[in-house]
Amino acid sequence: MIEHGRERNEAMVKDGSGLVTRPESPPDVDDIRAVNIAAFETSEEADLVDALRGSSAWIDGLSWVATTAAGDVVGHALLTRCTVGESAGLCLAPCAVDPRYQGQGIGSAVIEAALEAARVRGGDFVVVLGHPGYYPRFGFRRASDYGIGLSIDVPADALMVMTLNDDASVSAGTVCYAEPFGIPC
Ligand SMILES: CC(C)(COP(=O)(O)OP(=O)(O)OC[C@H]1O[C@@H](n2cnc3c(N)ncnc32)[C@H](O)[C@@H]1OP(=O)(O)O)[C@@H](O)C(=O)NCCC(=O)NCCS
Repeated sequence: MIEHGRERNEAMVKDGSGLVTRPESPPDVDDIRAVNIAAFETSEEADLVDALRGSSAWIDGLSWVATTAAGDVVGHALLTRCTVGESAGLCLAPCAVDPRYQGQGIGSAVIEAALEAARVRGGDFVVVLGHPGYYPRFGFRRASDYGIGLSIDVPADALMVMTLNDDASVSAGTVCYAEPFGIPC
């Protein structure tokens, strides 16, 4: 019976009829942790989300989930505060989709929803450290094009930035992530 329900949910996501994106609410916390644990090899990202939730980098309304029509949380995208020089921005991390549901557009939907929420709130820019084959579809460009870098060595095309509005001001400089990321400023 449960398997039948899950198969039905997967079909609903695949044809696009059942996917819901919305900001996280308190009952989602354990499900978000489970999605991050399922998507990554270790619990590091799940722990990071929980640490960020208790930090000053957290912004209510910028942690987004994707659910099936039945309400199962299957995807998550998180935006938290960061700075580049004097400019206040957001960083996108982590992004996770339950492996059983990957490759169906759920990651894209939940990331787009989180970015739109940031845009509506007047955010200026978003930094992501991730797969250069994935994030440009949302508007991310190489951070080095903006004179932005990191204090640690990463592949040059993995650090990306996108502006959220035409008037966005982005300083050149080094990305300063929130303390739970463990990346020195
Ligand atoms: C990355 C992730 C969030 C994407 O979610 P998704 O629902 O599978 O993605 P979508 O269905 O929206 O998009 C699928 C596209 O993403 C691409 N993609 C997925 N994982 C990728 C990766 N590791 N590197 C590059 N591209 C990737 C697929 O190739 C596909 O590309 P296409 O549209 O050109 O065919 C998801 O695959 C995931 O949770 N992966 C494991 C955790 C992770 O690596 N998170 C990102 C780092 S924070």
